[in-house]
Amino acid sequence: MPNSSNWIVLKFGGTSVKSLSDWQVISKRIKKLRKAKKRVLVVHSAIRGVSDALEDLVRTARNGDGSEALAFIKARHIKLADELDLDGEALLATNFDELDRLSAGLALTGDASPRLHARILCQGELMATTLGAAWLNQTGRDCEWLDARTALTARPAGGISGYIDADCDHAPDKTLQKRFDSDVVLTQGFIAGREDGDTALLGRGGSDTSAAYFAAKLQAERLEIWTDVPGFFSADPRLTGSARQIKALSYDEAQEIASMGASVLHPRAIAPVRNAGIEMEIRCTHKRKMPGTVISATPSEDAPRLKAVSVKNGVRLITLDTSGMWRASGFLAKAFEPFARHGVSIDLVSTSETSVTVSLDDDPSLTPAVLTALEADLAEIARVSVLEDCAAVSLVGRGVRALLAQLAPAMEAFAHYPVRLISQAANDLNFTVVVDGDQGKPLCRKLHDQLIQPKPLDETFGPSWAELGADQTAKADAPAVWWRNKRDALLETCRENEAVYVYDRDTVRERCEAIAGLKNLDRGFYAMKANGHADIIRTAVEAGLGIECVSINEVEAARAAAPELTPDRILFTPNFAPREEYAAALEMGIHLTLDGLHPLRHWPELFKGAEITLRINPQRPEGHHKHVRTAGPEAKFGLHRDELPEAIELARTAGAKITGLHVHSGSGISDPEHWRRVGIFLTETAQDLPDVKVLDLGGGLGVDEASGPRRINTDQLDIMLGELKTAYPGYEFWLEPGRYISAEAGVLLARVTQVKQTPDARFVGINTGMNSLIRPALYGARHEIVNLTRLEEDAGMIADIVGPICESADRLGAQRLLPETREGDVILIGNGGAYGRVMASRYNMREPAGEVVI
Ligand code: LLP
Repeated sequence: MPNSSNWIVLKFGGTSVKSLSDWQVISKRIKKLRKAKKRVLVVHSAIRGVSDALEDLVRTARNGDGSEALAFIKARHIKLADELDLDGEALLATNFDELDRLSAGLALTGDASPRLHARILCQGELMATTLGAAWLNQTGRDCEWLDARTALTARPAGGISGYIDADCDHAPDKTLQKRFDSDVVLTQGFIAGREDGDTALLGRGGSDTSAAYFAAKLQAERLEIWTDVPGFFSADPRLTGSARQIKALSYDEAQEIASMGASVLHPRAIAPVRNAGIEMEIRCTHKRKMPGTVISATPSEDAPRLKAVSVKNGVRLITLDTSGMWRASGFLAKAFEPFARHGVSIDLVSTSETSVTVSLDDDPSLTPAVLTALEADLAEIARVSVLEDCAAVSLVGRGVRALLAQLAPAMEAFAHYPVRLISQAANDLNFTVVVDGDQGKPLCRKLHDQLIQPKPLDETFGPSWAELGADQTAKADAPAVWWRNKRDALLETCRENEAVYVYDRDTVRERCEAIAGLKNLDRGFYAMKANGHADIIRTAVEAGLGIECVSINEVEAARAAAPELTPDRILFTPNFAPREEYAAALEMGIHLTLDGLHPLRHWPELFKGAEITLRINPQRPEGHHKHVRTAGPEAKFGLHRDELPEAIELARTAGAKITGLHVHSGSGISDPEHWRRVGIFLTETAQDLPDVKVLDLGGGLGVDEASGPRRINTDQLDIMLGELKTAYPGYEFWLEPGRYISAEAGVLLARVTQVKQTPDARFVGINTGMNSLIRPALYGARHEIVNLTRLEEDAGMIADIVGPICESADRLGAQRLLPETREGDVILIGNGGAYGRVMASRYNMREPAGEVVI
């Protein structure tokens, strides 16, 4: 339907109207649209925190003690008024009086009827817009304030919902279109008028819905929802930092994603704009210039494409076994009838010849009483089994059926996640699998990271959440990483060097002290394979850590770097090393770990009188990528528990004593519970080994990585270790982190050599590549990348950052947001302090980046 007006409707939420700078953002947007000759209607909600305070007021005023809530609400508005240089007392006098009056009435009657509730709640929006309109007028934007209750009329409905969960008519409204003298109108979200002249509220997500109603009534050209994030993401960013902004969605896709729990937009807000054919865009107030998610009938890319992966927890599966009724007609009708009778809504259905399984969402109305009654009724027609606490993982995108072939590489994921139900939605918008509750999030993360792969110059996906967090436009919220404070020193270092790794000693020390300071850890060792720089080894030893080594060369380098390092402070954990290395370790008297039977079986003479540790494979792989998972049936590390009796016997024959057990299941683990599991596993394994005193829980402690893992919380780790020690007081517990000590302390600096734009992609070339940092090519690792020379400039391009190596995998970052980047700029690659330089090569006869410590 063609839109007949030049109205643009903007909606701003509570976090966007709380301060002067927020109002400046609104004003700038209005100015820009006015310049393009658009008429603007702004819908906005109450100031953040005020709606909750009004709810509090309703609750407390009933008992006569609403004064605190009332004082808070008034003070909050006066503060904003002061900041906006307005006379708040005068502007809001009527609202304050109304609140005083209503709360006094509440105290008298003690009865908060839905009608009174709505009258109190609406004041939040009325007050905020009153201040906003006054400020806009004061700053020269001629703005008309509209009481939304005179423009939106709630459809008649009885009971509570008629007051607090109303919906409104939104047919095109010529009268409204002609009603305004001004080209800028400011009005409230969330509230509407009732036919009887009273106030109604629109329920949760009400401001989005109001804005959609106004857009439909005005036949607006466009609706813009301004919020804290730049639109929909391909997954919940809390689950994976590689969740990507979605640039374009059709109405039905947006409806599907919104209904699956993305809190960006209320699903109710879509129907009004869809019916009126109005384009909608979700944009971010903190990234004003960045385009958001555009929702329209025809998204720019027409081919079916997977847009998002979501997970819903608390799902319940009910299976009706119908073998007794094979081919009986009318069974499904009978099976569904009790659900309708008990008011239980079914989400997914899957049927076979002899059974029907349905899923129920976690819904507060699904009380134990309702469930018991439902199950009893179902038991009359079939055998019933219920599986609680499942998770539904959904792939969402138009034409998802056509995409199933693309799933093939991801199917491997299901080997680890038993599937309880599969369902493909009739509207061809989603494909859902139900798995056990604790597997939902890992599966969602895994499917997302495998299946959502942006292309160069992608029309569907924008930057990832991690990139946005790290990108240079988010200066105010930028995390306090050391290199931001030491930028000048870094630029100076790079002036003298080609490409260079720079390590920050203070950060290394801080991390070493965090491990050495764990109250419940008996001993900590730095796994120097992460970074063997002498200075880092010295810093670790000075902080009181020992050193974990994987080769005799490492042992020698550690001793050279820190001569005070006694043999007792060195762990040697080799894997398939030659005989001489075991002999040398025993000679030196350092702790030796065996991870197979070969040494004991074939070189027993070496071990006479020795104390040894056995590395066990716990069979449960962990870690950020399959290449760094060192446990499980395919792993080349460790002994199988079933091999223990033979190991014990071989050690006895050789005259060695098994005094320690060790596990390292993988690298890049964020959940402290992992080490609890390992600890328990080792104590159980140690039961047949009376000489075991030390349980080494390995390394693997995760750091903040854009590709997913988070920095381990050492407080939680310490609590967990304390619990282990209390439960198993006879053992010493050791840890041997590598990455945690050095990763975030290092950056790789490189200079831009060339910039290249092809019809399909843009490349920023730098003077080193996978020869210095192989992690992106080897593991798809995502390192933060910024233009250090232009740190304060806004992002102006999206590019792949590539090196000079003759391999297509020589790409350090794909689709990154950067400011306009030029030859000679210094590019910084974050988290370069672990597994960076140590894994470098001279491939193509190009020297890898050097190393400097500051
Ligand atoms: N202990 C043992 C026996 C290990 O094999 C390792 C690492 C560690 C401790 C230290 O793990 P960390 O705390 O650093 O995660 N190149 C890969 C990591 C390989 C880890 C090898 N073993 C990467 O860049 O992610």
